[in-house]
Amino acid sequence: MEYVRNAWYVAGWSSEFANDLSAVKILEDNIVIYRTSKGRVIAMEDRCPHRFLPLSMGKLIGDNLQCGYHGVTYNCEGHCVRIPGQKKIQKTLKVRTYPVFEQHDIVWIWMGDKSLADTSEIFDMPQFAQAGWEAHQGDAIHLTSNYLNVAENLVDPAHVSFVHPTTLGSSASEDVPVHFDTSGDAIVAWRWIRDSPPIGFFKEFPGYKTNVDRWHYYYLYPPSIAVIDFGSADSKEQIEENQRHLGTQLFALHFLTPVSSNRTIDRWMHLRNVAVGDETASSKINSMFKVAFAEDKQILEAIQEQEDHLQNQNPVHISIDKGSIAYRRRIADLIKSEAADNSTM
Ligand code: FES
Ligand SMILES: [Fe+2]
Repeated sequence: MEYVRNAWYVAGWSSEFANDLSAVKILEDNIVIYRTSKGRVIAMEDRCPHRFLPLSMGKLIGDNLQCGYHGVTYNCEGHCVRIPGQKKIQKTLKVRTYPVFEQHDIVWIWMGDKSLADTSEIFDMPQFAQAGWEAHQGDAIHLTSNYLNVAENLVDPAHVSFVHPTTLGSSASEDVPVHFDTSGDAIVAWRWIRDSPPIGFFKEFPGYKTNVDRWHYYYLYPPSIAVIDFGSADSKEQIEENQRHLGTQLFALHFLTPVSSNRTIDRWMHLRNVAVGDETASSKINSMFKVAFAEDKQILEAIQEQEDHLQNQNPVHISIDKGSIAYRRRIADLIKSEAADNSTM
């Protein structure tokens, strides 16, 4: 399958990598990742150019990586520095390295043309640094599902009433229309449910007892990041659409790592302006998310199983699909323009 390669993807949480060798697969590339003695993260193609043994089966000698078959050794730039039994180092023994960068306890990896890797383009949100906000890392969900289907689920407020009735949605929102904006960097789908009883989440945080105005804004940044802004405010306050920060607001962030055509890792975390500094609240919120995301996993894996057996059948679109249609078009265009750039190089 083809992927958008000129993008920063999440290789893992910072805590996933230590001064030893981890084998990961991203966009079908096998990659070995390790930290140097000084803590710098190195990512290299997980294949020795000599006879193709995965380098993750070798070992670290200082900060260099020694292949486990004949001991050919590579430095952090992927250059060969030792060939046991021979003095001359051959230039052809070179391993591809990937640009990596750590930000907000996440290791980001650039999968495409190295000359285009710009760390200032890595996903960020001002709330990470703002007082009154708390960021909390969640978990990594391994899905047997194509990442496009996972991403589609993250620009789709309409499924919430049916898939997440106890945590994120309720039947009160089943027929509320969804709005779309496909003109910016992010594809946005949203809806408001005015003056209705609070859903599970907001009954607990901060503990609304009377009717609330509730919103769900899904921002999907192609190729693989989604920010879901959802919250509630007391209906009596009648907040405007752009005053959401005045209510209880949570951002669920999803970083999708496409592994292969039917495997995706969704690392999720949240930012919130309620119960800041409250560890118990963090773990309670995480467990609610876990319930909800397990519900999505079940749906997405069942769909994948169907897709694996489909022949020449395409989904039938309805009006709530505007976000996902725009997303798939954007992905196809990005892949096409990368291919065109490569052919002129
Ligand atoms: S396969 Fe790596 S040194 Fe021979
Ligand atoms: Fe969902």
